[in-house]
Amino acid sequence: MALAKKVRLDQLKESQKGHASTYSTRYFKEKIPTYILPESSAPANAAYQLIKDEMNLDGTPALNLASFVTTWMEPEARQLIEENLHKNFIDHDEYPQTEVIHERLVNMIARLFNSPDECNSIGTSTVGSSEAIMLAALAHKWNWRKRREAEKKPINKPNIIMGADVQVVWEKYARYFDVEARIIPMEKDRLTINAHEVERHLDENTTCVVGILGTTFTGQADDFEGINDLLVRIKNEKGWDIPLHIDAASGGFISPFIEPDLKWDFRLPQVKSINTSGHKYGLVYPGVGWMIFREDVDFPKELIFNVNYLGGEMPTYTLNFSKGSTMVLAQYYNFIRLGFEGYKDIASNLMANARYLRDQLIGTERFESIGSLDHFPVVAFKLKDNKGYSVYDISEKLRENGWIVPAYTLPPNTQDIDVLRVVIKENFSRDMVDSFVKDSEVACEVLSGKKKIRPFPATDSHNKIHSHHVA
Ligand SMILES: Cc1ncc(COP(=O)(O)O)c(C=O)c1O
Repeated sequence: MALAKKVRLDQLKESQKGHASTYSTRYFKEKIPTYILPESSAPANAAYQLIKDEMNLDGTPALNLASFVTTWMEPEARQLIEENLHKNFIDHDEYPQTEVIHERLVNMIARLFNSPDECNSIGTSTVGSSEAIMLAALAHKWNWRKRREAEKKPINKPNIIMGADVQVVWEKYARYFDVEARIIPMEKDRLTINAHEVERHLDENTTCVVGILGTTFTGQADDFEGINDLLVRIKNEKGWDIPLHIDAASGGFISPFIEPDLKWDFRLPQVKSINTSGHKYGLVYPGVGWMIFREDVDFPKELIFNVNYLGGEMPTYTLNFSKGSTMVLAQYYNFIRLGFEGYKDIASNLMANARYLRDQLIGTERFESIGSLDHFPVVAFKLKDNKGYSVYDISEKLRENGWIVPAYTLPPNTQDIDVLRVVIKENFSRDMVDSFVKDSEVACEVLSGKKKIRPFPATDSHNKIHSHHVA
């Protein structure tokens, strides 16, 4: 959430200070202030209509190709969500069945991520991957510190190793929790991290190494097996037991279904914890995420708070306290409704649509794709050569058709590469791909000056319509 600032009322234009009556005076006659709590009440239908109208200024979720987060669920899921909106997830004693379902979900996900039979895995739902990452990384820092204290060694210089391909949450974690972020830069021919690069950065103060399944920038995967083998070797040679955490925010609900042989999860012994976003390819609306630990013994007991004032004894490991139950239940709905087979069909379809989009874009001879599309339905692409306009111009032009497509630079040391990225979600069908590619081509033609934007011809010069219509 962007931080919101207090607005200086004396610097506002009159029109910004309040909502003028809309629909003539059908709903309300007095202005409703925008930055001060209104003195009096408004009728429910007026309040509803006012906000509903404002919401039209938002983008259309179905055309939001920027976000990984689910924009569509089935009506039955919505019904379940609506029926349970008034339940606070933290009230486990009051809503015990929600807690039972939560436990089933943690079990299902731990098994999906190949928790070995002999492991007592443990986990929790979170608001999203960011909370899950903060919690998991904090637990690893805690373990590192306990080990160092037992060895009577300094504890003032913890570090965490990550690639420059990480999502912002990892740098946030490092700053919030006072850990040095050792960031491995990217190279043009290496947009992920590997064992060689990790080895150059680690030492006895390394609390954790981060691997990413489905990078935010290009949708690629780090070299998990190589990094795992490195950490096993370091453990044997030097006695440093450095955990590998896998950030599977986006890939956690794709790879198990389409690439069951890709070893990225608890099959690798140094993988001690994993996060995933239920609200990404878990196909649930925002916000639900999951944090799973391989072994309960790896989990510092001091970080678990037992709360008893809601009745019963309740162990919690969360950054927040209250939250809605609905997205946890919606996750359960998807698991029951889709099963392994359903998720597999959807993931395969997403991959096929991603490849189709990539091929169509390459076919225009204007774009080149970045990344491999081996693991993950994200298409990152750049302009083939310097055309006198940029991906930022294209992104802005596409917005006129409603498409929301982010343009950005790749992370250090590849910042000179500017890309556009499309995240393929369930609602992005083949015919939408065709429309999108066509609109991208038109955008390029307009930007290159080959196609002109001109007004409609007007017969009466006093009555010209100034329309931005693409000829
Ligand atoms: C790789 C990766 N990690 C973490 C996150 C943060 O996830 P969330 O939005 O669920 O907090 C994202 C979000 O895009 C991501 O792509």
